[in-house]
Amino acid sequence: SQNWVLVVTARTPTNIAVIKYWGKRDEKLILPVNDSISVTLDPDHLCTTTTVAVSPSFDQDRMWLNGKEISLSGGRFQSCLREIRSRASDVEDKEKGIKISKEDWEKLHVHIASYNNFPTAAGLASSAAGFACFVFSLAKLMNVNEDQSKLSAIARQGSGSACRSLFGGFVKWIMGKDKNGSDSLAVQLADEEHWDDLVILVAVVSSRQKETSSTSGMRESVETSLLLQHRAKEVVPKRILQMEEAIKNRDFASFAQLTCADSNQFHAVCLDTSPPIFYMNDTSHKIISIVEKWNRSEGTPQVAYTFDAGPNAVLIARNRKVAALLLQRLLFYFPPNSDSDLNSYIHGDKSILQ
Ligand code: PMV
Repeated sequence: SQNWVLVVTARTPTNIAVIKYWGKRDEKLILPVNDSISVTLDPDHLCTTTTVAVSPSFDQDRMWLNGKEISLSGGRFQSCLREIRSRASDVEDKEKGIKISKEDWEKLHVHIASYNNFPTAAGLASSAAGFACFVFSLAKLMNVNEDQSKLSAIARQGSGSACRSLFGGFVKWIMGKDKNGSDSLAVQLADEEHWDDLVILVAVVSSRQKETSSTSGMRESVETSLLLQHRAKEVVPKRILQMEEAIKNRDFASFAQLTCADSNQFHAVCLDTSPPIFYMNDTSHKIISIVEKWNRSEGTPQVAYTFDAGPNAVLIARNRKVAALLLQRLLFYFPPNSDSDLNSYIHGDKSILQ
C-alpha cells in the first residue's frame, strides 16, 4: 500500500568552538586549514529538533525550516542526502507491515521538518546544530550502521562546524590529511560529565542575520589574510595541545586564557581580511572589557568569552557562583529595556540566579 509513513525525530544541540575553525583548504568537501575544539551546549537550550519522514506517497524530497519550506537543491544538502542514502540498510516494521530494502531507499523520498529554538544564521551556530540533526535523524531513519565519527564526516559536508555537534562534551574536529576527506572528522575529548562545574551563558547582542556568511568570509580570509596562514601553521597546532591539556585537567585559568585569545585571533583574522569583516559590535567589545577587567581584578580568570561569526557573546563561567555574579553584572551594565542592544540574555540555566 502507499499509505504508510515512517517517522524519526531527533534533537541536537549546537556547539561553540573554543579553538576556532576559520578557513577551508577544500571548499566542496569542507576540509579545514586547522583542527578545532568545541564544547557542545546542553540540549535543553540552543538546539535543533528535526523530524524526518519517509512514505511511498512522497514524490520528492522536501524540507521545512522553522515552518517555511526551503530548497533542498543546494550542494550541501545534496551531499549529505547522497552520503546517507548510499549507506542505508534494510528497515522492517512488522507491526505496521513495512519493509524497506536497501535498494528501495534510492527511490523513496523524504520530508524533513526542522526547528531551531534560537535565531537562525545570527552567528549562533545554527547550521552546526541543523546539519548535525539532519544527518543524525536521516541516518536513524535509513538504519545507517556507522559510528558517530563516520556520521560526523558526513555532517561536515553540510557545515564544517556541524561535525562537532554529533558528540556531547568537549569535541575535537581533526582536520585530516586525506584528499577525499575521509579522515576529517570529529572525536570526543571528554564527555558532558567531565567538567560540569562550567556554566555557559549566551548573551544575545543581536538576533539579526549576519552580513557576511561564514562561507564567503572564510574564502576571503583564505585568499587575503597573511595572519590566517600564520595562525593555521604556527598558532593553532600548539593551542590545540594546550587546550586538550586544560580540558583534561579542568584547568580553568589555562582554558579561559586560550579560549579568549583564540576568539580574539579569529576576529583579528577577520580584520586582516580584505575587505575587512566586522562580526563584533560595540556591545561585544564592551562585554570583552567587562570580562577582562573582572578577570584581572580577581588575579585568576573567572569567565571566558568567545564570539563566532556575529556579535553575540558566549560566556563560560568557572562555576555556578561566578555565573550568577556574571548575570548580575550583565544586568547592571545592560539593564533590560534600556537603549542598549543586549536584548535577551541567556539561553542557559536561569536557576543560577536563585
Ligand atoms: O560551520 P560554519 O561554516 O558555520 O563555520 C563556523 C565558523 C565559526 O563558528 C566562526 C567557528 C567554529 O569553529 O565554529
